[in-house]
Amino acid sequence: MQPYEKILSYNKAWAAKQISEDPDYFNRMAEIQEPEFLWIGCSDSRVPANLITGTKPGEIFVHRNVANLVIHTDLNLLTVLEYAVQYLKVKHVIVCGHYGCGGVKAAMTQHNFGIINKWIRSIKDVHRIHQEEVDKINDEESRLARMVELNVQEQVMNLAKTSIIQKAWKQRHYPHLHGWVYGIDNGLIQPIFEMAAGTPIGPLYKFDDL
Ligand code: CO
Repeated sequence: MQPYEKILSYNKAWAAKQISEDPDYFNRMAEIQEPEFLWIGCSDSRVPANLITGTKPGEIFVHRNVANLVIHTDLNLLTVLEYAVQYLKVKHVIVCGHYGCGGVKAAMTQHNFGIINKWIRSIKDVHRIHQEEVDKINDEESRLARMVELNVQEQVMNLAKTSIIQKAWKQRHYPHLHGWVYGIDNGLIQPIFEMAAGTPIGPLYKFDDL
């Protein structure tokens, strides 16, 4: 059996098992989704949102990209954010990075990765903003770990800089924004940064006519 055939065959068995345990399962799923969470995570195959958070289908709305970035010109991210916040009215937005992230690691080198340079360029900005702190760390692994944490923090702040989040905070005082980092080697999530609704935003980034 080809590996992709294995996936299809697992899917058949899984669907049958769901129905045998709960005959109404898929009927319920097909009706509506009301997730409380939006997850913005890394595309890394070792960080599956549902599995590591114990959330079931219907509970978490997921967007993933390389190095879990929130870039204000990324139409894909903006569409997911607008839909999750404005229509699904999620209560929490989680940016979840992970230690050992290849995207962050790549951005800390001077290597030319071709088109990937353009995507990871903003991580170099994170490095520049926190250069004094980061470059003081001698151990390479610890330096990358700190950059992963700071990247998550900056992405949460990038969320707060969007008119989408600022409008939701003004209208209904949520969602709460979280920055987490997942440890691939121990399976544990560390909350490292958060912004409650209404957290003051610097005047440069604040919109006053939402
Ligand atoms: Co990654």
